[in-house]
Amino acid sequence: MATDRIISPGPSTNIEEETINWSLRPQRIDEYIGQADLIERLSISIEAVTQRDEPLDHVLLHGPPGLGKTTLAHVISNEMQSKVHTTSGPALARGTDLVAALTRLQKGDILFIDEIHRLPVAVEEFIYPAMEDFRIDICLDTGLNARTVQINCQPFTLIGATTRAGLLSSPLRSRFGIAHHLRYYNTDELLTILLRSADLLAMKPDRDALTAIADRSRGTPRIANRLLRRVRDYAQVRADGKCTSEVVAQALSLEGVDELGLDELDRAFLRIIATTYDGGPVGLETIAATMNEDAGTIEDVVEPYLLQIGFLSRTKRGRSLTSAAHTHLGVSPTTSDHSTLFKFRNA
Ligand code: ADE
Repeated sequence: MATDRIISPGPSTNIEEETINWSLRPQRIDEYIGQADLIERLSISIEAVTQRDEPLDHVLLHGPPGLGKTTLAHVISNEMQSKVHTTSGPALARGTDLVAALTRLQKGDILFIDEIHRLPVAVEEFIYPAMEDFRIDICLDTGLNARTVQINCQPFTLIGATTRAGLLSSPLRSRFGIAHHLRYYNTDELLTILLRSADLLAMKPDRDALTAIADRSRGTPRIANRLLRRVRDYAQVRADGKCTSEVVAQALSLEGVDELGLDELDRAFLRIIATTYDGGPVGLETIAATMNEDAGTIEDVVEPYLLQIGFLSRTKRGRSLTSAAHTHLGVSPTTSDHSTLFKFRNA
């Protein structure tokens, strides 16, 4: 299934895998690798509010999946010595769901709302006074009898996470004191994360082997740790426990993952544009129909990384491959020209 790929940035549906993944995550802020500017801002704020015995400002984390938004919420809670209560935008379907969540909080606790862009508008209105004054306004009755009752909640920190910051209303966005876009990790940062994970998993891989995994991890720690575990199994069973860059290449090519971290679905998508549609431009729906896949799935799970590495360009006329993509596929753009010529000759 397109959503259950080894290189999917989202959480796995496999509980065992998620449990191991959880055990590899950093617990404290000084163990957190990457996102240096955010980590510095957070460290300063945490130290300052701890000295003043106040809750931390509300934090909005936005960016692609798999980059550590949930991990950061737990790291912050460990640093603040508080408890995290986790929920999500869609789970807070009614105002009463939010009131229940807010009234459960103890002083200084963290309310983590994942996919906060999916919070219903009606629920959003309850959250404003809670964020500003730790107060919940409940409207009783309607019409002439309408009155508002106020309930206080404990001072808390809201951490909102979203992959679609653009969908957040501006009143909600403006109520976060700290807002930060998480970016993809570079190879050095992924290598440092992998060194730590390999140590926790009692592995002794070559540094080159870990670099080879980092290169295939699409800038995403969750993918890096998942690939590391697959390599560990392969090395144990097929390579006497030796973990070299060759073993990484073999293990991951068996999983269909190439040296850039592309899998069969990515390559099928690129090949179809390159060969069937002469490199584009071609509409997404047309590509999806040719691949027998859902257009929304392709847009959400295949295209983002290909756009990020500059393999795909998206215009009003449709999707086109760049020359880098043609080179990676080993299909020259001139081959596409030949097919166009061929079409004209046979017209
Ligand atoms: N594991 C997953 N993400 C991490 C990060 N940002 N730093 C350290 N270890 C990690």
